[in-house]
Amino acid sequence: MSGLNGKKIIIGITGSIAAYKGVILARELVRRGSVIRVAMTDAASHFITPLTFASISKHPVALNMYPPAGAEPANGSWHIEWALWADAMVIAPATASTIAKLAVGLSDNALTVIATAMRGKVFVAPAMDSDMHNYPAFDRNIATLRSFGMEVIPSERGELASGLVGVGRMAEPDAIVNTLNAHFVRSASLADRTVLITAGPTYEPIDPVRFIGNHSSGKMGYALAEEARDRGARVILVSGPTSLPDPSGITTIRVSTAAEMGTAVDLCSDDADIVIAAAAVADFTPVDVSRDKLKRRELAGDELRVTLQPTRDILRSLGERKRAGQILVGFALETSALIESAREKMVEKNCDMIVANPANEPGAGFSADTNRVTLVTASGERELPSMTKRACAFEIFERIEELASGERRTAAVEHGWYG
Ligand code: CTP
Repeated sequence: MSGLNGKKIIIGITGSIAAYKGVILARELVRRGSVIRVAMTDAASHFITPLTFASISKHPVALNMYPPAGAEPANGSWHIEWALWADAMVIAPATASTIAKLAVGLSDNALTVIATAMRGKVFVAPAMDSDMHNYPAFDRNIATLRSFGMEVIPSERGELASGLVGVGRMAEPDAIVNTLNAHFVRSASLADRTVLITAGPTYEPIDPVRFIGNHSSGKMGYALAEEARDRGARVILVSGPTSLPDPSGITTIRVSTAAEMGTAVDLCSDDADIVIAAAAVADFTPVDVSRDKLKRRELAGDELRVTLQPTRDILRSLGERKRAGQILVGFALETSALIESAREKMVEKNCDMIVANPANEPGAGFSADTNRVTLVTASGERELPSMTKRACAFEIFERIEELASGERRTAAVEHGWYG
């Protein structure tokens, strides 16, 4: 399936020897039906000439922020016109310098003024020598770009321009084209759908300063929300207390207790086509909440006894009121009998899928950036290898879309898209 046909794509070329691969990338995108424009940094023009790209794109290349006197464009905001025109931008190769500029929002050349004004997705394919790749700021800058919603196409291991062997080679143009294609195919797959997701922990107050909570970071639920947004869905994220920022393009409702989360979900669930309960909701809440801070010295017999009562099981309520065509997904975090418990929960709570994850394994569970899950549905189990939570979110939505359409889709694991 070609998602590239008719898509408007800006290719950003920065000063790396891999700039020559930018020509192959440009050529291939044109061959696949995309309309391209090219922006280059001054450094890039030392490796390859703007004329090459102007010839392939059949459009003037953006090289200077300020064209020479007498050659000013009619539109002084040409960079905004470019950014609004494009469906996506791909910076390939992206040097350490350009990556650092984007991470801090520095827009001091033709390429970065466009990139910082982009509304469409920005893809970044780093290229540099392995020692530069290992520089501590690099990982931090890449994480920042990801948090801005940019997609990083990881560099590969191999022989580098310096003659050294290591990580840092730009991904091959084919891999970049495939990533762009997959983006456009999936960005429409949930268009006109509404997805409701719960995420994070809940805090059940004991007194004005103390609460009963859990270690959930919210990362899995937020990754699911971002994946749904990137597939074109309207997304409502009902989040318990987390340290994560509100993801862009997603309606985020902040709640604190299980009761508040239940109320927010009740208000939104009827309109949702897909509901995913990824929150680690407290199963019990204190019966009485002290109005004043409990004083240690005033405790009878030096003991604090807190009586707890069960909270409403939000997922169970969702299962009871599930409407025809709605897909309901729950999570099961278990320390033993993972699949059996997941299967029981799926039936009991009327879910279409349970994402089962082990609580006691390294690289899985609450605060890790990776997860190792098994997708349990009525037709069987699909055990996935350890992968980033974002990749996990991708797989969960692939399975959800399969359930919705009954069709088998290609697993991302087969594409090697994890990084
Ligand atoms: N859940 C919920 N409301 C609750 C408790 C849990 O919506 N009050 C949802 C969670 O978001 C998750 C699923 O139920 O999707 C499973 O939660 P989990 O705590 O693993 O299971 P429980 O059903 O609470 O069962 P148990 O604690 O006995 O394993």
